[in-house]
Amino acid sequence: MKNILAVYNGSFDSLDKIKVSPLSRAYTFSDSVYEVIPFYNSNIIAFDDHIARLEKSCNALSFSTRILDISNEIIELITKSKIQHGYIYYQVSRGIDNLRSHMFDKDLSIETFGYAVEHTFKSQSLKVMLCEDLRWQRCDIKSTSLLGNVMSMNNAKNLGCDEVIMHKDSIITEGGASNIFFANDECVFTPHLSKNILPGITRELLIKDIKKAGIKVLEGIFTIDDLIKAKSIWLTSSTKGLAQVIEIDNQETNIQIDHEIFVQCDRIFKDNYLT
Ligand code: PDD
Repeated sequence: MKNILAVYNGSFDSLDKIKVSPLSRAYTFSDSVYEVIPFYNSNIIAFDDHIARLEKSCNALSFSTRILDISNEIIELITKSKIQHGYIYYQVSRGIDNLRSHMFDKDLSIETFGYAVEHTFKSQSLKVMLCEDLRWQRCDIKSTSLLGNVMSMNNAKNLGCDEVIMHKDSIITEGGASNIFFANDECVFTPHLSKNILPGITRELLIKDIKKAGIKVLEGIFTIDDLIKAKSIWLTSSTKGLAQVIEIDNQETNIQIDHEIFVQCDRIFKDNYLT
């Protein structure tokens, strides 16, 4: 943890020096939201979109946040870290309560915490596991409360998998820490936005960019059967970019590693953001 630059309530220090109260509501209730904001060659990828999503998450929980201060602080963190390729983790909690109570004190001051780390953005090929989506009904809020994801992803890890693809009664939702896309020879498919998935920034960028390149994209409701028939499947996130799924545990698939639509989508994303 040494030499990782962090910021806590506006004060910069190395990550290992930061002290947090155990009565932070981030700690007692996961009463907090976060962003993971990537930067490549010191260029922040989709900064305004990340800030807008953070503001939305804060508003959903009625945090009174000064979003301009936060966005300036994130830029300062990246500049001061001198990291070329990496990401910012940035968390906003409701604050520190004197008494642990579900019903919070209305006069709390927001608590903020962030740090910058290096990241390589190298391509990944994943073995994934299908699992029932165990999560709550507001997955559109980027909350730090991620126990469903943590349980499913660690179960997958213990079975030799790298990620999960979650479903609710066979309807595909998303990955454990990513959105999902799949394709046949004509079209790219991805679950439509709803309260059951996070509105991923990478998802949004990719949809916009591949549509511009003439690739057909359909956002809708898709089942495990639709997924199994796909010729390529990939997951998207700010840290993974596009990560190709090469195997689904316990399933026979039609995955072609060099499937043209996937290769094209991956190339478009890399050309636009990772050069
Ligand atoms: N996670 N869905 C979930 C559940 C996620 O946790 C993430 C990202 C995404 C993709 O969102 P985006 O493209 O905006 O990164 C979708 C981050 C990277 C994390 O928790 O580390």
